[in-house]
Amino acid sequence: MELNGKRIVLGVTGGIAAYKAAELVRLLGKQGAEVQVAMTAAATHFVGATTFQALSGRPVYLDQWDARMPNAMAHIDLSRQADLVLIAPASADFMARIANGMADDLLSTMVLARDCPLLLAPAMNRQMWENPATQRNVARLRDDGIGLLGPASGEQACGEVGAGRMLEPEEIVEAVIAAFVPKSLRGQSVLMTAGPTFEAIDAVRGITNLSSGKMGYALARAAQQAGAQVTLISGPVGISAPYGVDRIQVRSALEMHAAVMARAAAADIFIGVAAVADYRVAEIAEHKLKKDVDGPPTIELVENPDILAAVAALADGPFCVGFAAESQHLEAYAQAKRKKKNIPLIVANLIQEGFGGDSNRLVLFDEQGMHPLAPASKAQLATQLIHHIVTLKGQGACIAST
Ligand code: PMT
Repeated sequence: MELNGKRIVLGVTGGIAAYKAAELVRLLGKQGAEVQVAMTAAATHFVGATTFQALSGRPVYLDQWDARMPNAMAHIDLSRQADLVLIAPASADFMARIANGMADDLLSTMVLARDCPLLLAPAMNRQMWENPATQRNVARLRDDGIGLLGPASGEQACGEVGAGRMLEPEEIVEAVIAAFVPKSLRGQSVLMTAGPTFEAIDAVRGITNLSSGKMGYALARAAQQAGAQVTLISGPVGISAPYGVDRIQVRSALEMHAAVMARAAAADIFIGVAAVADYRVAEIAEHKLKKDVDGPPTIELVENPDILAAVAALADGPFCVGFAAESQHLEAYAQAKRKKKNIPLIVANLIQEGFGGDSNRLVLFDEQGMHPLAPASKAQLATQLIHHIVTLKGQGACIAST
């Protein structure tokens, strides 16, 4: 529950995407948030207040003259109770009004009176979104420090295709969680690898390993939440890209190497979480090998490039972090790998704990020695690891002494 105890005022304005706001209330509640819904009059044409009341467990506020507020100041009371105000969907009209500081209904008055962060999830027809007037308002809202989530592109309720769709409720929840994370990596670009590689033998078979991508994806999410621009070079996994992370999908170690080396020089931090195959098949059979015709194959292997070592060897390259999965002698093997690859930090885990599951136990090794982290979920460990990386990088940590 990543929003435990957080008080969120959800403002719903008039648009067909208002029906998705109902799911948003449910998902925010599932993360532990207390959600107070306030609606514009237009929003009630799309979804009834009763739906939001039932889902949030709280009465819904519809206008600033609401008699339930003894002091007749609903806009002040609602905004003072909030840790964050989220408007989803935010219509073109509502954005125009708050971009101009108007305060002529409950929601706009509350937005003007607030002293907490404000996030808007725009939703409108693509032509309305592209209109120079809307774009002027968007620029002004951004200048005012207001966070805009999306919009996404795709098919719209009106049948047209383009930018203007409201983000999905799951993506909005991710952005709300991120809004509460300190931005220790703001302005930094983080390049990462995650998942396994797949080294083809023939048209259908290959050599791979049991990495699920969960540890690397958790780390990509934590870095994005800490304000970094994250590019994740991912081997074949069955999980979707974290919100706000630029994912590039590859298959083999050679593809991963090429994708990383094309971007490494521009990165501030490189983190190699992928379980990269040390070897690939020398000659990949074009067609499926036939048991009856070809007999048992003899597979010749050649060594793959070491991606992490190559990035660490770049002059003026990024701050490099490696991972090591070992079945024994964690400290000796991890420190040896760190020194061999010439990197300031390596993160060790036991193969029986690291691969596949949702939790892990990590031990960090740097020039100062060893820093064990208590067993926890991969998401929690990712946050702690980002903290360690920020501290170490801030201290100007150097590479291993050999
Ligand atoms: O994906 P999960 O199921 O969540 O599992 C996570 C994990 C166990 C895969 C992860 O936590 C982990 O330990 N990853 C590293 C696996 C490993 O043992 O790598 P290695 O010892 O082969 O390599 C050491 C480091 O060099 C790693 O950072 C690796 O990405 C990098 N490497 C290795 C070989 C190679 N050719 N290129 C590399 O960049």
